[in-house]
Amino acid sequence: MRAATSSLPVARTREALATELRALRRSGATLGLVPTMGSLHPGHLSLVQRAAELADATVVSVFVNRLQFGAGEDFNAYPRDLARDVELAAAHGAHLVFAPAEREMYPAGEPRVRVDPGPMGDVLCGRHRPGHFRGVLTVVAKLFGLVRPDLAVLGRKDFQQCILIERMIRDLDLGVRLVVAPTVRDPDGLALSSRNGYLSPAERREAARFPEAFLAARHAFRRGERDAGALVRLVDTMLAPRPALRLQYAECVDPATLAPVARARAGTVLAAAAFCGRTRLIDNIVLEATAEAPACGGPSGSGG
Ligand code: PAF
Repeated sequence: MRAATSSLPVARTREALATELRALRRSGATLGLVPTMGSLHPGHLSLVQRAAELADATVVSVFVNRLQFGAGEDFNAYPRDLARDVELAAAHGAHLVFAPAEREMYPAGEPRVRVDPGPMGDVLCGRHRPGHFRGVLTVVAKLFGLVRPDLAVLGRKDFQQCILIERMIRDLDLGVRLVVAPTVRDPDGLALSSRNGYLSPAERREAARFPEAFLAARHAFRRGERDAGALVRLVDTMLAPRPALRLQYAECVDPATLAPVARARAGTVLAAAAFCGRTRLIDNIVLEATAEAPACGGPSGSGG
């Protein structure tokens, strides 16, 4: 089955995807993949644009992946609007949207074999969302298998996800170049996320305090603070008086290993998650003495 909106083909099945990909690849074109769960916002669209700059043809996948949601999380509530996503993807340079139904993605039901992120999947967000990164890596590996992209573009807001996908590519020799694009923020600093739409107007105002806490930590680092515990306490202290905000974790980590560090140095990543009401926010910054540096490095990461 192939549906088309705005002259952009939308493959709903793996068969339709294979047909569209054959046409796209006919001329030896390179292929970029932007994996998403839809509800596209300007952050996603910056990834589509980046892919369109780097590859001859860009595929945007739209699939809300049940495997990466825990019990009691927002799988059912997650915003879905495929027609709007297709319009936006088309307007930002995509050539194809792959929007499979669940039975297309997982024809035999939930896969028995999954991709194990190892210990790096059990820290930071993974500590609070058991099984989350297993679900992410499994679906991303499947998308890589179905689309066979030359490169994939992801957003740095999902720092741990980027690091784990990069490791998966490297450790399993998947042959995909990972490009990590900068976080896109609202003017008040809040990182764009499809989940920001859950925030009430009052919560949305409070949510801006979250990126402010990161900026305070960065300023402290620039003024010479190197004690990781002190930087984390600063984030905690800034959020503690805000009743709508509840810090879930904040940690200074080595970006290559995600191991916590006692002493921050240039390149250390400060990552945190907080609830604003019932909405979970995540963010991260690289601690740098001067200008911001890429959070995701390594052989396949461009850092955007
Ligand atoms: O970042 C996301 O939207 C998802 O985790 C991803 C990479 C599309 C996998 O479902």
